[in-house]
Amino acid sequence: MNRIIKSTVVALLLLISYGCNTTKDTTNKNEQAIIMATPFDAKIDSLMDLMTLKEKIGQTVMYSGDLTVTGPVVSNNNQKYVKEGVVGAMLNVFSAKATKDLQKIAVEETRLGIPLLFGYDVIHGYKTIFPINLGLAASWDLEDIKKGSRIAAEEASAVGIHWTFAPMVDISRDPRWGRISESAGEDVYLASQIGKAYVEGFQGEDLSKHNTILACAKHFVGYGAAQAGRDYHTVNMGEDELRNVYLPPFKATVEAGVETFMTAFNELNGIPATGNKYIFRDILKDEWNFKGFVVTDYFATNEMVVHGYAKDRKEAAKLAIEAGVDQDMMSNANHLYLEELVNEGEVDVKLIDDACRRVLLTKYKLGLFEDPYKYSDEQREKEVIYKPEFLEAARQSAAMSSVLLKNNVSSLPLNKTQTIALIGPLAKDKKNIIGNWAAEGDRNGKAISIHQGIQEYLSDSKIIYAKGCDIEGADDIGFGAAIDAAKKADKIVMVLGESYEMSGEAASRTNIKLPGRQTDLIKAIRKEVPNKKIILVLMNGRPLDLSEEDILVDTILETWFPGTSGGYGVADVLFGAYNPSGKLPVTFPRNVGQIPLYYNMKRAGRPMNPDNPKERYTSNYLDSPNSPLYAFGHGLSYTDYKYSDIKLSANTIGFSDTLTASVTVTNTGEYDGHEVVQLYIHDKVGSLTRPVKELKGFQKIFLKKGESKTVKFDVTIEDLKYYNASSNFDVEPGEFEIAIKGSSDFNFENTFRLE
Ligand code: BGC
Repeated sequence: MNRIIKSTVVALLLLISYGCNTTKDTTNKNEQAIIMATPFDAKIDSLMDLMTLKEKIGQTVMYSGDLTVTGPVVSNNNQKYVKEGVVGAMLNVFSAKATKDLQKIAVEETRLGIPLLFGYDVIHGYKTIFPINLGLAASWDLEDIKKGSRIAAEEASAVGIHWTFAPMVDISRDPRWGRISESAGEDVYLASQIGKAYVEGFQGEDLSKHNTILACAKHFVGYGAAQAGRDYHTVNMGEDELRNVYLPPFKATVEAGVETFMTAFNELNGIPATGNKYIFRDILKDEWNFKGFVVTDYFATNEMVVHGYAKDRKEAAKLAIEAGVDQDMMSNANHLYLEELVNEGEVDVKLIDDACRRVLLTKYKLGLFEDPYKYSDEQREKEVIYKPEFLEAARQSAAMSSVLLKNNVSSLPLNKTQTIALIGPLAKDKKNIIGNWAAEGDRNGKAISIHQGIQEYLSDSKIIYAKGCDIEGADDIGFGAAIDAAKKADKIVMVLGESYEMSGEAASRTNIKLPGRQTDLIKAIRKEVPNKKIILVLMNGRPLDLSEEDILVDTILETWFPGTSGGYGVADVLFGAYNPSGKLPVTFPRNVGQIPLYYNMKRAGRPMNPDNPKERYTSNYLDSPNSPLYAFGHGLSYTDYKYSDIKLSANTIGFSDTLTASVTVTNTGEYDGHEVVQLYIHDKVGSLTRPVKELKGFQKIFLKKGESKTVKFDVTIEDLKYYNASSNFDVEPGEFEIAIKGSSDFNFENTFRLE
């Protein structure tokens, strides 16, 4: 097209697409009011009227800028495709300059000038890295999680990112699966609340602001249930588990207004998620009325061929669009085949129109037609990245995420007068401490090690450091120096765990003990230095089998991978500046053979007899207790909390009533602190059997030492509903057990009836 015609077309489009959606310079108030009332639909209609089929298909295509690679690279022609106007979105392009340069091509060199969407995995921070998501979940602090994702959006948006591929709301009940680290853990209610908090944080209240980004609920659905905890593996589950366990957190994100969804790599009941019409069209789009768009996971359309579901890539493209999947991340399938499929009458063009419309809608909502460059702001990039208050917020999150698993004879907190031996491969680490999926987080200079954190509290003369051993490997050459350090100190702090690469995508383990010689190192020190307190500080991306460590050490502080300011946050806990309040969002088993083990299992017809756990022909193991090492919801404090005086507003409620349950919590110890008060119920008889316990609410409260508070929960009929045998989300009358406790490890004592 010659230049003059081209500029005329672009000018026309600017008028149609850009000009009409703002309070732009107009003096005519009436005209402005009409403009403001114009729905995006009208603008999208006008734009789509001008688009060729190829251009519409372009909106359903995403390629990678390849600055980060998490899967096969299918094309190096990205810039060429952007110029041709056949790409709607890019991933793995970041920095204000890189995004602006590409956006310029899309806006100024294509026929219609439609801006690109830039997506990236901003999972627990962009530059300022917060604790890994499993750690964040351990804070049970929705405001803090929201704040962290707001900060992540602030940083990411400044470098031109419009869209994060988060939150991952896959229920994760298998510690072998590496991506459990990215999840909110095992519980439906907790994961749903946390999923909402992320969405609200990333998207803010107004998507058109320059510092808010699209969120993406992933991976729909069942990814966490991969057989044997092996990534990408098969998933088979019935409606009960799908509807009552795996779907609710996704539904919660839809209710919170999430703009996009991502498919999962797994197949679900024989159909790969990316071609699964039941979950995308029937449930997500029809039943839940989701108006945003669905992107595939990386290369997932192509993988339907490998799964043995599509005979070739062309058929895979057809299956995906028919299933309700709107955008193809990296498979090159939509780009290559959709036009042909439409022309052959194999794919209804309405499906392409719908997908294109959904993608364009997000671009309008973001305000990209108004100012396509507003996110790529080099000045803002300089100002917001690693802002001091962001680093401070990350420090607080690290402290709040830490879970005190055991603390014999109050070995913690440390005091400033004692000398400590600081031992372990992770004590001075800055590379692993920010965890996996750490976006552009700095794995050296910026991260604060545990050692640096401790230096804030202790002078160097009181810290005797020895590495002891590596995270992995058989070498015990450093054991001697570590034992010497331990002998010279008052207390021994060991910082052990996994490397960051041992969790995350494609990082499943069959052995969930501490890797390498680390447990041997504890044993060697315990043997040579029997009378000194050993405080084990852990960094890991999954529940570990700590059955040996639990016997060997006095104290265990689980810090997950605590992030950029992790060293400071963890030291705040070690020295009592922050009294630990984290609670496990996931069960820690005693051994890998118990997996899957989670608190709200169903009851067998021959349940284990608690008075005789080894009784034959009951549901038990010959060689292990059924119980976990540390239960869901467990987490100690430096103080003690007493729960008393549980009260119910009624013994029987009707279908339109609300039950109020209350409890008095008293801080009976020596420190002020936060406590996460948890509400559990048990629906005793259902048309489908119900879990033995279900979390239905929680409140994080602050109590000064000696203080008491009454904590109240309202239990509504909605809280008692589930997908029942008639496939209805409904409540069934009968008896319910109820309890308000500080962990899931308790027996019910109270009941009420619904009649
Ligand atoms: C992961 C997704 C991620 C995508 C893009 C995939 O390998 O499964 O969670 O968002 O890559 O990086």
